[in-house]
Amino acid sequence: MHDFRYSGGQLVCEQVQIRALVERFGTPLYVYSSRTLREHFGRLNAALEPLDRWVCYAVKANSNLAVLRTLANEGSGFDIVSEGELRRVIAAGGDPGKCVFAGVGKTEAEIEFALKKGIYSFNVESEPELQRLNRVAEKLRKVAPFALRVNPNVDAGTHAKITTGTYENKFGIAFEEIEKIYRRAAKLKNVRARGLQMHIGSQLTEVEPFRHAVEKVVPLVQSLSTRHSLEFFSIGGGIGIVYDPALASGDPQWWKENPAARNILTPATYAEHLQPMLKPLGLRILLEPGRFIVGNAGALITRVEFVKRTGRKNFVIVDAAMNDLIRPAFYDAYHEIVPLRRKAGATISSDVVGPICESGDYFAKDRPLPKVGEGDLLALLSAGAYGSVMASNYNSRALPAEVLVDGDNFAVVRPRQKLEAIWASEKVPAWLKRR
Ligand code: LLP
Repeated sequence: MHDFRYSGGQLVCEQVQIRALVERFGTPLYVYSSRTLREHFGRLNAALEPLDRWVCYAVKANSNLAVLRTLANEGSGFDIVSEGELRRVIAAGGDPGKCVFAGVGKTEAEIEFALKKGIYSFNVESEPELQRLNRVAEKLRKVAPFALRVNPNVDAGTHAKITTGTYENKFGIAFEEIEKIYRRAAKLKNVRARGLQMHIGSQLTEVEPFRHAVEKVVPLVQSLSTRHSLEFFSIGGGIGIVYDPALASGDPQWWKENPAARNILTPATYAEHLQPMLKPLGLRILLEPGRFIVGNAGALITRVEFVKRTGRKNFVIVDAAMNDLIRPAFYDAYHEIVPLRRKAGATISSDVVGPICESGDYFAKDRPLPKVGEGDLLALLSAGAYGSVMASNYNSRALPAEVLVDGDNFAVVRPRQKLEAIWASEKVPAWLKRR
């Protein structure tokens, strides 16, 4: 559920008319709802209430400082993957003591920084990484808390580019190897086992892969926790969201009436299946949701530049492009597209495309859309996660502006990048004289 809906025929985010934001800040424009962020964090946190649980928001999904501050104020911990992300969390007022550090390639410098900041756990993905962690900690005369990331070898059945829990992937340590490595780690002086971690993939819309993985890993956690006195078990992120039809799913009534909604993974279903297995462990349970918290909380607003009809197609050419939101090009992802001003009447099968010179630069293909024309405004929904964070300057296009809404209040949380800023740090060598 989320806070983008029509009111008086106009798309609003909470109590703010999006058209008014566009008039002030232009397009392409990312718009985020604070209320959705807080509500999604709260729903997940509440669903797991009987457990000692930490929801550690996966910063990679959307790392804007305002998003991080909103979640830090709700008591969120953070799942980080780089020094940059840890610095962001600190800049936003988050607690490093509630940060877990994931990733297969942590550098010595990153480990050193995170150790000095006192993060909660390094989620270690290989034995060489464990040795590096021990070495860096020894140099700093510290003891590094760690969790091994177990690869449970279960197929999450999601898109190939975002599945992580099988032996085909670079992630984690094989299930069969885990106990041996904890035993070896116990002999290292500057690391201390604090937990066990797993993450099987992203945008999982069914509970079954989670249930299967937790069921498989629980006996391992049990045996490790007695031998190595573990404090936590992290079951990772990955809870999927509704992309289609995202707008309808913002309406509580839709959840009551739509039979399909029953099959969609909700915090309640997630908790209902996992809690009975997790509770008896008596450990702190960590979650690392990214998309679930922020995905439906954001939309990318774009303006129609031209409508181009060819013999076969109706191309709606908009001013946002794959550099602003790469998900359709990269993962064949679906984002619902709606006009800011509700339009009744017939739809027309359209390709919504950006101005970049690549055929991959599209947001939708053969999508039934209301008839639109030059100057019309469209919203690409559910663009809060892996949207602005994956944006680039490809084609020397400036990064879009971002606005956070809270009730009837709003603020720019990242101004539109100035074109000159794109090349401001580039240098032409002195020998290349201007001719
Ligand atoms: N924990 C770990 C260790 C992860 O690798 C990830 C995501 C998460 C948590 C958060 O997963 P989430 O709850 O957001 O599904 N760019 C892709 C998604 C990449 C996910 C990478 N890892 C997309 O746009 O679909």
